Amino acid sequence: MIRTIEWTDAGVVMLDQKRLPAEEIYHTYIDYEGVAEAIRSMIIRGAPAIGVAAAMGIALGVKNAAAKSPSIEELGREFDIICIVIAGTRPTAVNLFWAVDRMKAVYARVRPLGTEAVRNALIDEALTVYREDIEANRAMGRMGQELIPDGARVLTHCNAGALATAGYGTALGVIRAAVEAGKKISVFADETRPWLQGARLTAWELAHDGIPVTVITDNMAGHFMKKGMIDCVIVGADRIAANGDVANKIGTYSVAVLAKENGIPFYVAAPVSTLDLNIPDGSHIPIEERNPDEVRMIQGVAITPQGVPAANPAFDVTPARYVGAIITECGVARAPYGESLRAF
Ligand code: MRU
Repeated sequence: MIRTIEWTDAGVVMLDQKRLPAEEIYHTYIDYEGVAEAIRSMIIRGAPAIGVAAAMGIALGVKNAAAKSPSIEELGREFDIICIVIAGTRPTAVNLFWAVDRMKAVYARVRPLGTEAVRNALIDEALTVYREDIEANRAMGRMGQELIPDGARVLTHCNAGALATAGYGTALGVIRAAVEAGKKISVFADETRPWLQGARLTAWELAHDGIPVTVITDNMAGHFMKKGMIDCVIVGADRIAANGDVANKIGTYSVAVLAKENGIPFYVAAPVSTLDLNIPDGSHIPIEERNPDEVRMIQGVAITPQGVPAANPAFDVTPARYVGAIITECGVARAPYGESLRAF
């Protein structure tokens, strides 16, 4: 299995997703500030992977703080700072805040038992978040693959694979499970400007597993749909509102509209940690704005005239009416999502 992130005695180890596919480089982070910077700079990315990194970053911060034998009050102050720094790294993927809240709940429960107990419980919790994410992806795969017909040509956008999770993947997990069930599946991977998660990461993962993949630029998706060359679309999600509106990588909305126009099913695969039932609809989802240079440049080379502005929203929101099903580890939800998602 692809090793995206791991907890080790030396620190939190991550595969550098900025360098793939040219180089497979692992970094070991020895403090929570390093983990926060890795999330911010997208060395690790993808909603569930960000959640796991957040949990491990907090556990690492507390482990380091506990080594200085502080009082439980001192540890508490440090814990609050660690949580604020980790929560401030990226705004859209709700898995980040879900993981921080989970760590806070464990802290509150174990605090009366003292520093050592808090340290151990938080490390255990981070490892549980990691393990549960892989299990959730396997469950999504088992249920979701039933929606994918044998012989299907599947379009995906961005990277919702092992690299975006603790392992196996959400959208790519469903594709992997369909292949494991003996189905002949081929994939069209949208390149996914400006970060090229599709071209660099999805293509790398699928090639690694021997699953046929063709990379297309984002503006080609409609052409292939109209020619009858796409049978279904499956993507991941960064945050799903109570009414089923889905925030995912910028460009997902266009793909969903094109799929509807062409009568192609559009599916979302995401763990329940991606559900944000506290917000009624997608208009409440904060959309990360990244540095416009990510659009103005490709691998350090300027592609626009100097001084011309560029916009760089990292995510968009696909209205629930375009979503054929939301595949979670607890079951496959269908419209009306306001009711079906509440069951999870
Ligand atoms: O900016 P990124 O690369 O973190 O965005 C990732 C996506 O949009 C993924 O599709 C989403 O997180 C689902 S990953 C299982």
